[in-house]
Amino acid sequence: MITVNEVTKSYGSRTLFDKVSVKFTPGNRYGLTGPNGAGKSTFMKILTGEIEPTNRGTVSRPRKTGVLSQDQFAFDAERIIDTVLMGNDTLWQALKERNEICNGTEFTDEMMHRLGELESTVADENGYMAEIEAAEILRGIGIEDARHTDLMASLPTDHKFRVLLAQAVFGGPEALLLDEPTNHMDLESIHWLEEYLISYEGTLIVISHDRHFLNAVCTHIADIDYDTIITYPGNYDDMVEHKMQARTSVEAENRDKAKKIAQLQEFVSRFAAGQRSSQVQSRRKEIERLTPTDLKKSNIQRPYIRFDQERASGREVCIVKGLTKSFGEKPLFENLDLEIMRGDKIAIIGGNGVGKTTLLRCLIGELEPDAGTVRWGTGATWGYYSQDFGDQIPKDTTSVEYLMRFEPKGDHQVVRGLMGRMLFGGEDGVKPTKALSGGEQSRLLMARLMLEKHSVLIFDEPTNHLDLESVSALGEGISQFAGTVFVVTHDRDLISLMATRVLSFTPEGLIDFLGTYEDYLTNHPLPEVQRTQRW
Ligand SMILES: Nc1ncnc2c1ncn2[C@@H]1O[C@H](COP(=O)(O)OP(=O)(O)OP(=O)(O)O)[C@@H](O)[C@H]1O
Ligand SMILES: [Mg+2]
Repeated sequence: MITVNEVTKSYGSRTLFDKVSVKFTPGNRYGLTGPNGAGKSTFMKILTGEIEPTNRGTVSRPRKTGVLSQDQFAFDAERIIDTVLMGNDTLWQALKERNEICNGTEFTDEMMHRLGELESTVADENGYMAEIEAAEILRGIGIEDARHTDLMASLPTDHKFRVLLAQAVFGGPEALLLDEPTNHMDLESIHWLEEYLISYEGTLIVISHDRHFLNAVCTHIADIDYDTIITYPGNYDDMVEHKMQARTSVEAENRDKAKKIAQLQEFVSRFAAGQRSSQVQSRRKEIERLTPTDLKKSNIQRPYIRFDQERASGREVCIVKGLTKSFGEKPLFENLDLEIMRGDKIAIIGGNGVGKTTLLRCLIGELEPDAGTVRWGTGATWGYYSQDFGDQIPKDTTSVEYLMRFEPKGDHQVVRGLMGRMLFGGEDGVKPTKALSGGEQSRLLMARLMLEKHSVLIFDEPTNHLDLESVSALGEGISQFAGTVFVVTHDRDLISLMATRVLSFTPEGLIDFLGTYEDYLTNHPLPEVQRTQRW
């Protein structure tokens, strides 16, 4: 059980939570939701104890709480299997000390006594099964046995996150706190995680912007709505339904009231100057009583994303001939020919590790292909939104200063206007960039691309941190853009919104499909499991 009592958190003049009290019960699986910047990550950090409330509010949590670490580089020097074992700190410390003693040359009585103690800790923590259990979890998330003793540094980003997830779930924690665990996962791993979490018996709290995932996993939704948290039974869609119903019934009530007020008002105007003053008086009171209930304004906001180009490119944007690239034995793509034409909106799809990012990096010259050529047409200049976008924003500045670097005329007004449309209102502009939430960083990079006005835009998994409103705003922005766009994504909604061409990495090879995603699916039906989940 996790209990939060009267917790308040503010940054400057902005209050994220005001005296929030909420209980999270074992056996329930809570989705923690709210738009970008609502304070989900902050709340979770308060739950784990990483940051303190602003007031004297308290949090109690179980002794063994698994947390998904957000720092993908923290364990680079450790072996993969050890990184998982570290999820049980008591066990890991005991194993480490035992090894140190055993590797020594002399043994004192004291040491023997300590060894005995350590053995019993290891036994209590189920240490003799630990490696087997850790290996099993690693296999579950698609990391094969041969790699378990490699260093974390040798893994690509998406795999590092999987190991961090394994670390969080290792050792049977009583509570599990996961901040956007599916961001770096493909369909298969998400499926594994869903199954795992559904059978998890402790208290689960998971933050996600993935509606499909929340619906599959959650029994409750804890929604951050302005400065409070409201818990709804059911999954994400149930919560949305509930909110809509509550709103519709208030709206209907208000309509009734408005009608009655109009009738009473008419009576009052007609007889105000006449004899019936007491009746007029009572109707005036009645009108006051009927004042419509304020509809809480929705906390959901949509950014306005529009990309312009300084100058259009020629008709032929990018000609790829015989492109081949492999890491290890099997080529990711071989002898690839592509003719990208102006206005193409290309969705690049396929599982983790199939070579989507590699293809993009070969196109922009960040990687040298093994064979083949990439020729960009006249006037084709590209803006690149990389998967590790956090590194693209310097940490020692503010949003407004960062964007000013990309405004050629140095016009503050232009940048301020753009920031407003991208939901950085008021104080948000001068907030240090290192404080930005995941979704806010992502919006900032989009704003940068909007200033740069390239004729080609290249996005690598842009929706990872975005809330649903921002994803659809991005889809709209891309499809309205007159230039050419490449998007690597797992997000079905985004693909449907923007794609005019689908480049699909499949086990049978790369499919270059000229048409919308719906047409693509008609021609290339997905396997059953993928159809019922997400693509
Ligand atoms: N140290 C800080 N100083 C000032 N503001 C901060 C600080 N840390 C967080 N914030 C602000 O608090 C708000 C909530 O941030 P948080 O990271 O909790 O959002 P979130 O709900 O997790 O968003 P996302 O969906 O984008 O991940 C944001 O506006 C963020 O910029
Ligand atoms: Mg967050």
